[in-house]
Amino acid sequence: MTLTVLGIETSCDETAAAVIRLDPENPDGPGEILSNCVHSQINMHAPYGGVVPEIAARSHVSIIDTLVEQAVAEADIELKALDGIAATAGPGLVGGVMVGLMTGKMLALSLDKPFIGVNHLEGHALTVRLCAPLAFPYLLLLVSGGHCQLIAVEDHGVYETYGSTLDDAAGEAFDKAAKLMGLGYPGGPAIEAMAKKGDATIFDLPRPLTGDGGCNFSFSGLKTALRVRATQMQPVSEVDVANLAACLQQAITDCLVERSQNAMKRFSQDRMKPSREISNLKFVVAGGVAANTHIKAALEQVCDKQNFEFHVAPPHLCTDNAAMIAWAGAERLRTGKLSLLDMAARPRWPLMELNEQ
Ligand code: KG4
Ligand code: ZN
Repeated sequence: MTLTVLGIETSCDETAAAVIRLDPENPDGPGEILSNCVHSQINMHAPYGGVVPEIAARSHVSIIDTLVEQAVAEADIELKALDGIAATAGPGLVGGVMVGLMTGKMLALSLDKPFIGVNHLEGHALTVRLCAPLAFPYLLLLVSGGHCQLIAVEDHGVYETYGSTLDDAAGEAFDKAAKLMGLGYPGGPAIEAMAKKGDATIFDLPRPLTGDGGCNFSFSGLKTALRVRATQMQPVSEVDVANLAACLQQAITDCLVERSQNAMKRFSQDRMKPSREISNLKFVVAGGVAANTHIKAALEQVCDKQNFEFHVAPPHLCTDNAAMIAWAGAERLRTGKLSLLDMAARPRWPLMELNEQ
């Protein structure tokens, strides 16, 4: 018996609803995406160079019902055919999270279906399994606008953090740098496009923390370094902007690659522990920044060198979407990990808190 789950995502600037199907006979995936509807608020936030929480929450309220209807219609199923309702319960902008969470609870209550409050980070962490079969354990680089972490995913709901960012996330660094250079929001795709026209060797930007052997990240200094370079060469031509974009993308790439390489060494060593299962070494990159072609290619190369299989979801499933929330919900539904209807929206919710005691 397959599990058909509706997912709802409203934690940042995308309102999304999707229906997916999990076959319990293939618990490591892939799943089937019956519908995947995303309404981006980018145009509303672009003038501000970042997401404005109040605008985001109001926009989620105005469109969430339509999106859910659309997702169910495109999936060509009846609401009563759903086996569960999953909604992001955090972490994220709490006003937005509350909109999706309340919608999900209300549907679950009125349809008398199981409800699953999903951790958005777990959604990103498990998406690759929705796309192709992938058994645990694997090493995960979760790299988005709000998060930058290296995590050993030992099993479903068993996570160990190897490192996280001490300040800005990588996506945030792209967004802030793009704002500084007048490239618009979101910064990642804009900088990636501009970098294609630039020379990544012209400016010497720092690679914070590299060389310390660890797995933490720090990106806030990069933005300052970029500002200093830009101030030194006023007026800044289009060629300068392209070169700055290429150098910034390269600096971020080098940090992600070096930190991931350190994490791979630790992950391989951890496999030697008696309690740990020996299997192929697997590396997964997830989150919005994983849509970046240059970064993906560099990570794939380091995987080849370190004998890790490389896995990444297609770009539209790397950035925020509801299929990943529905899938994470379905994985929880399959193992009986349901949520209560009094579950609160959480602005902060580290993945580690999902570990069972
Ligand atoms: O996962 P996501 O959609 O939302 C969060 O959970 O944060 O990630 C959004 C982030 C933004 O910072 C955006 O600039 C970045 O992902 N991003 C990219 C690319 N596409 C999106 N960064 C670099 N290159 C890209 N192509
Ligand atoms: Zn996200």
